[in-house]
Amino acid sequence: MPKITYVEHSGKQHVVDVPSGLTVMEGARDNGVPGIDADCGGACACSTCHAYIDPEWVDRLPSVEPMEEDMLDFAYETKPGFSRLTCQIKVTDGMDGLIVQLPEKQI
Ligand code: FES
Repeated sequence: MPKITYVEHSGKQHVVDVPSGLTVMEGARDNGVPGIDADCGGACACSTCHAYIDPEWVDRLPSVEPMEEDMLDFAYETKPGFSRLTCQIKVTDGMDGLIVQLPEKQI
């Protein structure tokens, strides 16, 4: 099962086993990782699941779809090229070792 490391803004790390098929957001939510609110439950309608992708992983994830791109405009302190909505990233076996950094806050 892929291990994903969620790094809080404070630097505290949470290493979590996330089953393939769930989203990166669901992996955080289901394991009590703080910092991802996911108010809309994964419908790409709130932008409160925003996170920064580790530079080593940016090009290894599926690209940003237009709907995610639009919603990212509402996220807190986005970093172009690194910001993603984690509800839009479906976990695959190839994502073992993925690192995501959580923002200081969600909107
Ligand atoms: Fe709402 Fe991702 S959970 S946009």
